[in-house]
Amino acid sequence: MSLVLRPVDLGDGDALHAIFTEPGVRQYLFDDILLTHEETQKHVEAACGHEAWVICLDDVIVGLTSLRPVNGDRELMIVVSERCWGRGVAFEAARAAMRHGFEVLQLDRILEGVDLPNERSHRLMARLGFTPTGETDGPKYRARTYEARRPSA
Ligand SMILES: CC(C)(COP(=O)(O)OP(=O)(O)OC[C@H]1O[C@@H](n2cnc3c(N)ncnc32)[C@H](O)[C@@H]1OP(=O)(O)O)[C@@H](O)C(=O)NCCC(=O)NCCS
Repeated sequence: MSLVLRPVDLGDGDALHAIFTEPGVRQYLFDDILLTHEETQKHVEAACGHEAWVICLDDVIVGLTSLRPVNGDRELMIVVSERCWGRGVAFEAARAAMRHGFEVLQLDRILEGVDLPNERSHRLMARLGFTPTGETDGPKYRARTYEARRPSA
């Protein structure tokens, strides 16, 4: 498979809206809320303000990954179209985003929060080398918090 990450831009709204509104994607990412096109566009605009990449598989946009600034840290965000689950696409894309975070941004750590019932995402966190750090309340579900440390040289 030919997997490419490129910086997100404002013109990616339509492709990302189709992905963000898939039932399996919105279930945890947006607490099952069906975003309007305008709401998706606001997410895209926000993503354009920091490190964020669309995930392209054979030249088709199949997801988004980013390193969102949160309280002086960076949080990994990863979403892949249901059509591409179970093939390692999310793993490869997230790994590339993390490499950018550690090698280019020189981050010491990357954080993540995953809703407790989001089993796919917990398995992904483990494969990526994240370790659980605790739990926190969310708008709909409790979430497990994770952290990945910069690999030592
Ligand atoms: C979370 C999410 C990104 C995980 O996607 P995914 O496709 O399950 O993750 P991966 O790309 O790592 O694929 C893993 C699966 O592919 C299999 N696989 C096949 N080839 C692989 C490869 N070359 N490398 C890694 N895994 C591979 C793995 O064995 C694994 O199988 P399993 O699900 O039975 O354990 C996806 O479910 C999603 O977009 N969800 C909605 C958004 C969301 O909740 N995001 C998280 C919060 S930010």
